[in-house]
Amino acid sequence: MKDKLNAILEKAREQVAQSADLNALNDIRVQILGKKGELTEVLKSMKDVAAEDRPKIGQMVNDTRAEIEGILEAAKSKMEAAVRDAKLKSEVIDVTLPADRNRIGHRHPNQIALEELERIFIGMGYEVVEGPEVEKDYYNFEALNIPADHPAKDEQDTFYVNGDILLRTQTSGAQVHEMEKGRLPIRMISPGRVFRADEVDATHSPSFHQVEGLVIDKGITFADLKGTLEHAAKELFGADTRVKFRPHHFPFTEPSAEMDVSCFKCGGKGCRFCKGEGWIEILGCGMVHPHVLEMSKIDPREYTGFAFGFGLERIALLKYEIDDMRLLYENDDRFLRQF
Ligand code: DAH
Repeated sequence: MKDKLNAILEKAREQVAQSADLNALNDIRVQILGKKGELTEVLKSMKDVAAEDRPKIGQMVNDTRAEIEGILEAAKSKMEAAVRDAKLKSEVIDVTLPADRNRIGHRHPNQIALEELERIFIGMGYEVVEGPEVEKDYYNFEALNIPADHPAKDEQDTFYVNGDILLRTQTSGAQVHEMEKGRLPIRMISPGRVFRADEVDATHSPSFHQVEGLVIDKGITFADLKGTLEHAAKELFGADTRVKFRPHHFPFTEPSAEMDVSCFKCGGKGCRFCKGEGWIEILGCGMVHPHVLEMSKIDPREYTGFAFGFGLERIALLKYEIDDMRLLYENDDRFLRQF
């Protein structure tokens, strides 16, 4: 019996010495110590051993088993250490190598102009709120005093999702959402994307951006509108900027106006930039129409307000002297990097 056990032990030693990887070690373990392994077979044959010899033989089998397990374990640790070393070597990082150049993107001119506008209006105590790009006809037209048969609706014929829902043509709907909250006074701007069925050219795009403004409080007058927008214009285009209000018509304001700023290139003398006019149009504005207030459950005898709408691209194009709106949407990195 002893010889047999020794033979098993020696064979195990030999096989372990020759095994190349952890799988091979495992095979050896199964082959010798497994359910049908050689050593297990020896244990099974114990029933043939004389009763008085059993404890001794049993001890021998156990010793052999322990020894083989020790051999397997030692070989396993050695192999694992070798694998770890190889991995560490292969993953060495040379920290002295120059790093990959990290190209950081750039704020879009629209975004720069928007942040500038937000800075100016937040400075005057305004809140920035967002309105939905997919809008109900009611908010885009009806509640802004543009009923179904109003000609202003033709001008802004747009992308309908269904008969009642559309991609908004103006950010003015955000005014209605804000008024409906029933929290007065209101001082807010609402920037965002708008959509119109326009062909793409140097000054048009089917998708562009507006920044809406709305102030509602007791005793607000056209003087507040003028003072506010003049201040904003000077902040945007420089302290020498003058403003001019031309009468205009918007269904949701009365009276309404468009505001021009003196050309910041020529100071108003007239140049190629302002097409000889000396003035550049930058927004629409007016006193909120009493009917618009009423529709949003605000009493026009108690509250008045003004509203305005900047075209964001317009500001970006002017401020950064970009002569074609399409450049703003091509996202050519060489163009964007200039600002
Ligand atoms: N929503 C108008 C447009 O798309 C711009 C505008 C004009 C907004 C007058 C206003 C406003 O809030 O009072 O042309």
